[in-house]
Amino acid sequence: MRNESSVRLLALLLALLAALTCLTGCGAKPAADQDEDTRLVVGFSQLGSESSWRLANTASMLGALSRENGYELLLENAKQKQENQLAAVRNFILQGVDLIVIAPVAETGWESVLQEAKEAGIPVIIMDRAVAVEDESLYLCSVGSDFLSEGRRAVAWLEDELARRGRADDAIRILHLQGTYGATSQLFRTKPLEDAADANDNWTIAAQLPGDYTEAKAYEVVRDYLLSDRGIDVIYSENDNMTFGAMRALEEAGIAYGGEDGVILISFDAVRQALQYCMEGRINLCVECNPLHGPRVEELIRQYEAGQEVPKHLFVEELIFTPDSLTQELIDQREY
Ligand code: AHR
Repeated sequence: MRNESSVRLLALLLALLAALTCLTGCGAKPAADQDEDTRLVVGFSQLGSESSWRLANTASMLGALSRENGYELLLENAKQKQENQLAAVRNFILQGVDLIVIAPVAETGWESVLQEAKEAGIPVIIMDRAVAVEDESLYLCSVGSDFLSEGRRAVAWLEDELARRGRADDAIRILHLQGTYGATSQLFRTKPLEDAADANDNWTIAAQLPGDYTEAKAYEVVRDYLLSDRGIDVIYSENDNMTFGAMRALEEAGIAYGGEDGVILISFDAVRQALQYCMEGRINLCVECNPLHGPRVEELIRQYEAGQEVPKHLFVEELIFTPDSLTQELIDQREY
């Protein structure tokens, strides 16, 4: 009997406790869970990790779209394969993310997957390289570099430099190291060089070699090329890592580069290591390509979430560097 009443008393106390808990916040989640609910889930299809530029770009995205800033960033590395990117984006759509960011490996082949994202009501931001789609309503906006302007500035510098050296009319043989075929950065850095070679009768593109934006590949193709042709005046290399590979191949072949008398080296990106080489006179021209898009993407997302109009295409301001325009202080301050 005594036992029965103490059980009843305990049950009564527990019910009271439950009622009290409910009054002070029945259904409320712990603070951490609440944060989860309000965080914006962003699926990010990064094309790869082929270059120093790319690593800086990924770090910039991770820093800007952090949990502290209110984001849940789902990062997928496509290892330079478009099929991996398409699969990643479809996965993001299935998961119902709030927004998708794509750094596309190549320009073409995006219509269907962008259409799928649109139908699912998920806005897409294109970052770095562009997508070639007729219907621009398939994505919210794009942010990246003006690659055509980069290429044009490189070529204009070469014309001026050859004139300064009194070589404007000399026969000039150019070895062209190309980035991943079909990428906006490859297409638009290639075009101005080809146009200039057409316009300048004394310029010849001796060869166009595939470097895939990697140091290893560029080293191999330049090393092999130099076995049969050592008469090169200029190397136009579409990114810094390929330039590093070419430098190694030139050194092994005993061919001087940089400075006033060596093979003229033109390089794109201007990462810290390349700028250091440039200041030392080992690279003649660094054309800047800025990878720090994270804060820009974050700003675009905030504008969009606030219902503001976002610019359709955002281009970044960039510079060119030569040995005389560089200081150690500038290089040390460089973020990438
Ligand atoms: O699309 C930007 C290019 O991609 C950078 O120049 C290169 O380094 C990267 O891999």
